[in-house]
Amino acid sequence: MYADRALLRMGIQRFIPWRYAGGQNNVLVVGPSGSGKTVAALLLAARLASRVPHARAYVCDFKNADWAFLEGRNHYYSYLDCVRGLDEFHEAFTARQMGVDPSREPLFLIFDEWQAFCSTLPKPQLAEAQKKLAAVMMLGRSFGVGHINIAQDAYAQNYGNARSNFQVAILMGNISKEAAGMFGLDRKDLSPVYGPGAGHMLVNGVDLHQIQVPTIREMSPLQAAICQIVE
Ligand SMILES: Nc1ncnc2c1ncn2[C@@H]1O[C@H](COP(=O)(O)OP(=O)(O)OP(=O)(O)O)[C@@H](O)[C@H]1O
Ligand SMILES: [Mg+2]
Repeated sequence: MYADRALLRMGIQRFIPWRYAGGQNNVLVVGPSGSGKTVAALLLAARLASRVPHARAYVCDFKNADWAFLEGRNHYYSYLDCVRGLDEFHEAFTARQMGVDPSREPLFLIFDEWQAFCSTLPKPQLAEAQKKLAAVMMLGRSFGVGHINIAQDAYAQNYGNARSNFQVAILMGNISKEAAGMFGLDRKDLSPVYGPGAGHMLVNGVDLHQIQVPTIREMSPLQAAICQIVE
Protein backbone atom coordinates (compact mmCIF):
# COMPACT_ATOMS: atom_id res chain seq x y z
CA MET A 1 0.00 0.00 0.00
CA TYR A 2 2.73 2.46 1.00
CA ALA A 3 6.32 2.03 -0.16
CA ASP A 4 8.93 0.83 2.32
CA ARG A 5 11.07 3.98 2.58
CA ALA A 6 14.14 2.15 3.92
CA LEU A 7 14.21 -0.10 0.83
CA LEU A 8 13.29 2.77 -1.46
CA ARG A 9 16.55 4.49 -0.49
CA MET A 10 18.34 1.42 -1.88
CA GLY A 11 16.33 1.58 -5.08
CA ILE A 12 14.01 -1.30 -4.17
CA GLN A 13 10.29 -0.72 -4.38
CA ARG A 14 8.32 -2.86 -1.96
CA PHE A 15 4.91 -2.08 -0.61
CA ILE A 16 3.80 -2.68 2.93
CA PRO A 17 0.36 -4.31 2.91
CA TRP A 18 -2.72 -3.34 4.84
CA ARG A 19 -4.40 -6.59 5.83
CA TYR A 20 -7.99 -5.60 6.45
CA ALA A 21 -9.10 -9.23 6.37
CA GLY A 22 -6.33 -10.08 8.84
CA GLY A 23 -8.07 -8.17 11.62
CA GLN A 24 -6.60 -4.74 10.88
CA ASN A 25 -9.99 -3.03 10.82
CA ASN A 26 -9.07 0.11 12.79
CA VAL A 27 -6.51 2.41 11.20
CA LEU A 28 -5.23 5.67 12.64
CA VAL A 29 -3.50 8.30 10.52
CA VAL A 30 -1.79 10.89 12.70
CA GLY A 31 0.69 13.72 12.19
CA PRO A 32 1.16 17.46 11.96
CA SER A 33 -0.74 19.65 9.52
CA GLY A 34 0.54 19.29 5.97
CA SER A 35 2.38 16.02 6.61
CA GLY A 36 0.19 14.17 4.11
CA LYS A 37 -2.39 12.45 6.33
CA THR A 38 -5.36 13.10 4.09
CA VAL A 39 -3.56 11.97 0.95
CA ALA A 40 -2.51 8.79 2.79
CA ALA A 41 -6.14 8.26 3.85
CA LEU A 42 -7.51 8.88 0.35
CA LEU A 43 -5.20 6.12 -0.83
CA LEU A 44 -6.45 3.84 1.92
CA ALA A 45 -10.06 4.54 0.95
CA ALA A 46 -9.29 3.84 -2.70
CA ARG A 47 -7.63 0.61 -1.60
CA LEU A 48 -10.76 -0.30 0.29
CA ALA A 49 -12.78 0.32 -2.85
CA SER A 50 -10.53 -1.71 -5.14
CA ARG A 51 -9.44 -4.58 -2.89
CA VAL A 52 -12.14 -5.24 -0.32
CA PRO A 53 -15.20 -6.78 -1.99
CA HIS A 54 -18.57 -5.23 -1.10
CA ALA A 55 -16.98 -2.55 1.10
CA ARG A 56 -19.00 0.57 1.87
CA ALA A 57 -17.97 3.73 3.68
CA TYR A 58 -19.41 6.68 5.51
CA VAL A 59 -17.14 9.73 5.24
CA CYS A 60 -17.01 12.52 7.83
CA ASP A 61 -14.97 15.43 6.52
CA PHE A 62 -14.89 17.90 9.38
CA LYS A 63 -12.65 20.34 7.50
CA ASN A 64 -15.06 20.26 4.55
CA ALA A 65 -12.26 20.23 2.02
CA ASP A 66 -10.44 17.19 0.72
CA TRP A 67 -13.45 14.84 0.49
CA ALA A 68 -15.86 17.41 -0.93
CA PHE A 69 -15.88 15.50 -4.22
CA LEU A 70 -18.39 13.28 -2.37
CA GLU A 71 -20.78 16.20 -1.86
CA GLY A 72 -24.41 15.19 -2.45
CA ARG A 73 -23.96 11.57 -1.37
CA ASN A 74 -26.08 10.35 1.55
CA HIS A 75 -23.13 9.11 3.52
CA TYR A 76 -20.87 12.11 3.09
CA TYR A 77 -20.97 14.55 6.00
CA SER A 78 -19.04 17.79 6.36
CA TYR A 79 -18.25 20.17 9.21
CA LEU A 80 -20.89 20.07 12.01
CA ASP A 81 -22.95 17.54 10.06
CA CYS A 82 -20.24 15.05 11.10
CA VAL A 83 -22.20 14.65 14.37
CA ARG A 84 -25.04 13.18 12.31
CA GLY A 85 -22.54 11.12 10.30
CA LEU A 86 -21.16 9.49 13.43
CA ASP A 87 -24.71 8.94 14.76
CA GLU A 88 -25.85 7.25 11.55
CA PHE A 89 -22.75 5.10 11.37
CA HIS A 90 -23.15 4.10 15.01
CA GLU A 91 -26.80 3.19 14.32
CA ALA A 92 -25.72 0.97 11.41
CA PHE A 93 -23.19 -0.72 13.70
CA THR A 94 -25.76 -1.13 16.49
CA ALA A 95 -28.23 -2.70 14.04
CA ARG A 96 -25.63 -5.39 13.37
CA GLN A 97 -24.84 -5.82 17.06
CA MET A 98 -28.54 -6.16 17.94
CA GLY A 99 -29.04 -8.74 15.21
CA VAL A 100 -31.45 -6.50 13.26
CA ASP A 101 -28.99 -6.39 10.38
CA PRO A 102 -27.40 -9.79 9.79
CA SER A 103 -25.02 -8.58 7.06
CA ARG A 104 -21.29 -8.57 7.69
CA GLU A 105 -20.11 -6.84 4.57
CA PRO A 106 -17.26 -4.42 5.33
CA LEU A 107 -18.68 -1.12 6.55
CA PHE A 108 -16.19 1.66 7.26
CA LEU A 109 -16.26 5.02 8.94
CA ILE A 110 -13.66 7.41 7.58
CA PHE A 111 -13.32 10.43 9.85
CA ASP A 112 -10.93 13.21 8.82
CA GLU A 113 -9.88 15.80 11.46
CA TRP A 114 -11.16 13.89 14.49
CA GLN A 115 -9.14 15.95 16.95
CA ALA A 116 -10.39 19.26 15.57
CA PHE A 117 -13.93 17.86 15.72
CA CYS A 118 -13.42 16.87 19.36
CA SER A 119 -12.11 20.29 20.32
CA THR A 120 -15.16 21.97 18.76
CA LEU A 121 -17.97 19.98 20.36
CA PRO A 122 -19.56 21.07 23.64
CA LYS A 123 -18.75 18.68 26.50
CA PRO A 124 -21.92 16.53 26.72
CA GLN A 125 -22.03 16.07 22.94
CA LEU A 126 -18.30 15.29 22.91
CA ALA A 127 -18.63 12.57 25.53
CA GLU A 128 -21.46 11.01 23.52
CA ALA A 129 -19.46 11.10 20.27
CA GLN A 130 -16.37 9.59 21.88
CA LYS A 131 -18.45 6.84 23.48
CA LYS A 132 -19.97 5.93 20.13
CA LEU A 133 -16.62 5.85 18.38
CA ALA A 134 -15.11 3.74 21.17
CA ALA A 135 -17.92 1.18 20.86
CA VAL A 136 -17.37 0.93 17.11
CA MET A 137 -13.63 0.48 17.62
CA MET A 138 -13.85 -2.07 20.42
CA LEU A 139 -16.62 -4.26 19.03
CA GLY A 140 -16.73 -3.55 15.31
CA ARG A 141 -14.42 -6.27 14.00
CA SER A 142 -16.78 -9.21 14.54
CA PHE A 143 -19.51 -7.32 12.71
CA GLY A 144 -17.43 -6.34 9.69
CA VAL A 145 -17.23 -2.76 10.93
CA GLY A 146 -14.02 -0.78 10.50
CA HIS A 147 -12.72 2.72 10.99
CA ILE A 148 -10.10 5.02 9.52
CA ASN A 149 -9.39 7.95 11.80
CA ILE A 150 -7.32 10.97 10.78
CA ALA A 151 -6.12 13.36 13.46
CA GLN A 152 -3.29 15.77 14.17
CA ASP A 153 -2.80 14.27 17.62
CA ALA A 154 -4.03 11.04 19.16
CA TYR A 155 -4.79 11.80 22.81
CA ALA A 156 -6.24 8.71 24.49
CA GLN A 157 -9.23 10.62 25.86
CA ASN A 158 -10.34 11.52 22.32
CA TYR A 159 -10.94 7.83 21.68
CA GLY A 160 -12.79 7.04 24.90
CA ASN A 161 -9.64 5.16 25.89
CA ALA A 162 -10.15 2.70 23.01
CA ARG A 163 -6.99 3.92 21.23
CA SER A 164 -5.23 0.61 21.74
CA ASN A 165 -7.77 -0.88 19.30
CA PHE A 166 -5.97 0.69 16.36
CA GLN A 167 -4.14 -2.26 14.82
CA VAL A 168 -2.44 0.06 12.36
CA ALA A 169 -1.05 3.51 13.16
CA ILE A 170 0.29 5.58 10.31
CA LEU A 171 2.51 8.27 11.76
CA MET A 172 3.05 10.96 9.16
CA GLY A 173 5.86 13.52 9.25
CA ASN A 174 8.08 14.09 12.27
CA ILE A 175 5.84 13.46 15.23
CA SER A 176 6.70 14.85 18.65
CA LYS A 177 8.34 12.94 21.48
CA GLU A 178 5.01 13.04 23.29
CA ALA A 179 3.12 11.68 20.26
CA ALA A 180 5.70 8.90 19.79
CA GLY A 181 5.23 7.98 23.46
CA MET A 182 1.50 7.51 22.86
CA PHE A 183 2.40 4.48 20.73
CA GLY A 184 5.05 3.12 23.08
CA LEU A 185 7.78 4.44 20.78
CA ASP A 186 10.89 6.41 21.54
CA ARG A 187 11.46 9.43 19.31
CA LYS A 188 14.86 7.84 18.51
CA ASP A 189 13.08 4.86 16.89
CA LEU A 190 11.71 7.16 14.22
CA SER A 191 13.97 8.29 11.41
CA PRO A 192 13.66 11.97 10.48
CA VAL A 193 11.52 12.58 7.41
CA TYR A 194 11.54 15.38 4.87
CA GLY A 195 8.57 16.59 2.88
CA PRO A 196 4.96 15.44 2.82
CA GLY A 197 4.07 11.79 2.30
CA ALA A 198 6.85 10.35 4.45
CA GLY A 199 6.38 8.73 7.82
CA HIS A 200 6.15 5.44 9.69
CA MET A 201 3.62 2.65 9.94
CA LEU A 202 3.23 0.76 13.18
CA VAL A 203 1.41 -2.55 12.88
CA ASN A 204 -0.05 -4.31 15.92
CA GLY A 205 2.00 -2.04 18.18
CA VAL A 206 5.27 -3.80 17.32
CA ASP A 207 6.15 -3.85 13.62
CA LEU A 208 7.53 -0.47 12.70
CA HIS A 209 8.11 0.37 9.03
CA GLN A 210 9.44 3.52 7.40
CA ILE A 211 6.93 4.48 4.74
CA GLN A 212 6.65 6.74 1.73
CA VAL A 213 3.14 7.42 0.48
CA PRO A 214 3.24 7.39 -3.33
CA THR A 215 2.85 10.76 -5.02
CA ILE A 216 -0.62 11.12 -6.49
CA ARG A 217 -0.32 13.07 -9.72
CA GLU A 218 -3.94 12.69 -10.79
CA MET A 219 -6.61 12.68 -8.07
CA SER A 220 -9.64 11.93 -10.24
CA PRO A 221 -9.19 8.14 -10.64
CA LEU A 222 -8.71 7.86 -6.89
CA GLN A 223 -11.80 9.96 -6.25
CA ALA A 224 -13.84 7.93 -8.75
CA ALA A 225 -12.87 4.72 -6.92
CA ILE A 226 -13.89 6.19 -3.56
CA CYS A 227 -17.23 7.38 -4.99
CA GLN A 228 -18.09 3.74 -5.68
CA ILE A 229 -18.15 2.84 -1.99
CA VAL A 230 -19.94 5.91 -0.60
CA GLU A 231 -23.69 5.78 -1.24
N1 LIG B 1 2.25 11.38 -0.95
C1 LIG B 1 2.46 12.64 -1.29
N2 LIG B 1 3.27 12.94 -2.29
C2 LIG B 1 3.46 14.18 -2.67
N3 LIG B 1 2.89 15.26 -2.11
C3 LIG B 1 2.07 15.04 -1.10
C4 LIG B 1 1.82 13.72 -0.62
N4 LIG B 1 0.97 13.80 0.41
C5 LIG B 1 0.72 15.12 0.56
N5 LIG B 1 1.36 15.86 -0.34
C6 LIG B 1 1.29 17.32 -0.50
O1 LIG B 1 1.17 17.91 0.77
C7 LIG B 1 -0.07 18.63 0.88
C8 LIG B 1 -0.66 18.37 2.27
O2 LIG B 1 -1.11 17.02 2.30
P1 LIG B 1 -2.38 16.60 3.14
O3 LIG B 1 -3.50 17.53 2.86
O4 LIG B 1 -2.59 15.16 2.92
O5 LIG B 1 -1.83 16.89 4.61
P2 LIG B 1 -2.56 16.75 6.01
O6 LIG B 1 -1.60 16.11 6.94
O7 LIG B 1 -3.87 16.09 5.80
O8 LIG B 1 -2.76 18.25 6.45
P3 LIG B 1 -3.92 18.89 7.37
O9 LIG B 1 -3.68 18.41 8.77
O10 LIG B 1 -3.71 20.34 7.23
O11 LIG B 1 -5.23 18.43 6.82
C9 LIG B 1 -0.94 18.12 -0.27
O12 LIG B 1 -1.79 19.10 -0.77
C10 LIG B 1 0.06 17.72 -1.30
O13 LIG B 1 0.39 18.83 -2.10
MG1 LIG C 1 -5.87 16.68 6.08
